[in-house]
Amino acid sequence: MARSDDDRFLSSPGERAFRPMLRAGQRFARDAAQRPILIFEEVFKSYRSGKPVLRGVNLLIERGEFVFITGPSGAGKSTLLRLLYRSETVDDGRILFLGRDVARLTAESVPFLRRNLGVVFQDFKLVTAWTVFENVAIALEVLGLPTRLIRARVGEALERVGLAGRGDDTAGVLSGGEQQRVAVARAIGGEPALILADEPTGNLDPQLAIDILGLFEEINDAGTTVLFGTHDRSLLEVRPRRIIVLDDGKATDVPSGISSESGEFYDNELPL
Ligand SMILES: Nc1ncnc2c1ncn2[C@@H]1O[C@H](COP(=O)(O)OP(=O)(O)O)[C@@H](O)[C@H]1O
Ligand SMILES: [Mg+2]
Repeated sequence: MARSDDDRFLSSPGERAFRPMLRAGQRFARDAAQRPILIFEEVFKSYRSGKPVLRGVNLLIERGEFVFITGPSGAGKSTLLRLLYRSETVDDGRILFLGRDVARLTAESVPFLRRNLGVVFQDFKLVTAWTVFENVAIALEVLGLPTRLIRARVGEALERVGLAGRGDDTAGVLSGGEQQRVAVARAIGGEPALILADEPTGNLDPQLAIDILGLFEEINDAGTTVLFGTHDRSLLEVRPRRIIVLDDGKATDVPSGISSESGEFYDNELPL
């Protein structure tokens, strides 16, 4: 199977040659810590002329937020996330992540994204023949971290996702829910500032979906900003959270947590 851009973001052997990254904080503006972690300014994206997917998206996300990105299938949720991890580039507008314009990063500075962003996909994207340990470690190897530190970080990440002691298991023998936990461990191993999840519960049954959502909530409680793309309306109702709806190429905040009082709210406001 051809490797997709998503796969390339995760790892590729050629990229092991990257020099070890500078520590976070040295590669972006000094005052970035005081600014919103993420700003979209009038972002436009189309794959085919005349059919724009995003038509002037404006978003402001503060450090430490947990944000759902939702909207109907085809609304552009995956596109928005891909622009952020640079698997796609904007046609127009700016995406400021940690004070730097992602759209205009040179190829050499794309590694800046890798150490500051963790990404989790619907289909886990594990190498099923590798061990759990190897699947998590690869993300740290491409950052050029020393082996001993990698071992410690992988152990810590596996513990955080509830898979302590499972490092030697072959990834392919784990259940779907466990495999997604491995993918989450891989995403958090580098201690990124921001985690992106694109339909991370899409392949899981409802109870497992809620468990995985809970895992992202724990990660958020520990300080990591989370952008969680999903079209699964039931997840939005688990707890009041910031919800951004993508529809008709625009992003709009909708109030959360009022669906139980007003059954009509989602019907009227959420185009799902
Ligand atoms: N690589 C691509 N080439 C052409 N069209 C694409 C591509 N990726 C997505 N699209 C189209 O862009 C629109 C938004 O897709 P997507 O971002 O995947 O939406 P969502 O994740 O909300 O379902 C859809 O109409 C889809 O068919
Ligand atoms: Mg999608």
